[in-house]
Amino acid sequence: MNQPVRSNPNDLEAFWMPFTANRQFKAAPRMFASAKDMHYRTTDGREVIDGTAGLWCVNAGHCRETITEAIRRQVGELDFAPTFQMGHPLAFELASRLASIAPEGLDRVFFTNSGSESVETALKIALAFHRACGEGQRTRLIGRERGYHGTNFGGISVGGIVGNRKMFGTLLAGVDHMRHTHDPARNGFSRGETEHGAELAEDLVRLATLHDPSTIAAVIVEPVAGSTGVLPPPKGYLKRLREICDQHGILLIFDEVITGYGRLGAAFAAERFGVTPDILVTAKGLTNGVIPMGAVIASNTVHDAIVNGPEHMIEFAHGYTYSGNPVAAAAGLATLETYQEEGLFEHAASLEEVWADAIHSLRDEPHVIDIRTIGLIGAIELKPHEDGPTKRAYSAFVRAFETGLLIRVTGDIIALSPPLIVSKDDIGRIVEGLRSVLRSID
Ligand SMILES: Cc1ncc(COP(=O)(O)O)c(C=O)c1O
Repeated sequence: MNQPVRSNPNDLEAFWMPFTANRQFKAAPRMFASAKDMHYRTTDGREVIDGTAGLWCVNAGHCRETITEAIRRQVGELDFAPTFQMGHPLAFELASRLASIAPEGLDRVFFTNSGSESVETALKIALAFHRACGEGQRTRLIGRERGYHGTNFGGISVGGIVGNRKMFGTLLAGVDHMRHTHDPARNGFSRGETEHGAELAEDLVRLATLHDPSTIAAVIVEPVAGSTGVLPPPKGYLKRLREICDQHGILLIFDEVITGYGRLGAAFAAERFGVTPDILVTAKGLTNGVIPMGAVIASNTVHDAIVNGPEHMIEFAHGYTYSGNPVAAAAGLATLETYQEEGLFEHAASLEEVWADAIHSLRDEPHVIDIRTIGLIGAIELKPHEDGPTKRAYSAFVRAFETGLLIRVTGDIIALSPPLIVSKDDIGRIVEGLRSVLRSID
């Protein structure tokens, strides 16, 4: 692997870091200098195994030559081209490729630059759809407690993580939430979909009854809630949501920013669970995290209702300067090719049991109160330290980094999501590394 090429900066003040305890970090910084395949290398030359695919996004592993080469080539050939009233071939090609791996009937792709922008786009598509269908009174949006849908205003409104919402005023009007599905008392130490909780989908019936179904535009859920600490869906839950939506003319949006592109051993969670939403929200693994890009994949029905009216008129007044950017599109195409050529979705599926066995072997380690696995995702929930919540998991995170393992923590939950190129040996290294960490922290 390459040697580090960057020295540590001597002034850390100017960069106001996202989702970071800035003062704590700057007092004891953790810096990566380079990466290859399953590993990072720190600025002081230590190798760190990536247990989190960066931030759930580097699904094909780091610095993959086919992807970096596609980007190099593209940036020297066509660096930028507008996609407002203009086009370039790669964006169309990538959209067609995405339509070909999306569930049947989801063929229309709107490009964005992030998961948060994909969420906003999906919510706007839902509202525009109902208005185009003469049902402009359908303005309500339903999310779920503990949901994470990025950090823009629509996303935090339908989202259900208190810390991400409380500072930002009244948010969008007309939003309501179903209950979350976390139920460790009944579903403790689960593998795959959980046994109990399908009845929680009936919350959507209650909300539809409370507000009247004819006022509800869409419901948005993560098929597996990720950032809140990995909550797999109860068996039958997603199917039931689909039925209720169909019954009441409500659009179903799946936020697959984490679950998309192979994380659950299929192109999308929709495929794995056999439930097709009307709108599918993606980002992260689309470009292997290398270049910011998101894609919202809508059904033909939704698209055709909006893309209507006089042909000289812009049908949907929405978009971003970088929607379908040529360099991002080249990265996306090379990434999808890599997934396909290396059979990475199938590889992820083939390792699911090995992964689950390894993670569940931590069950009796100190502090562990629950474990959840699904696809190549794992969560280890720790008993909070008596000095306060989050402290124990943070200690685990720092100790892991110091001993050569990158994990992610949210609250007192450790979340793992390795690149899909992970091998059985890598899984062993990640899990044994974590075992030592759990045994060494207070
Ligand atoms: C389910 C889900 N939606 C949306 C987002 C937001 O994506 P981004 O950080 O690219 O805006 C995330 C990020 O983790 C996510 O997990």
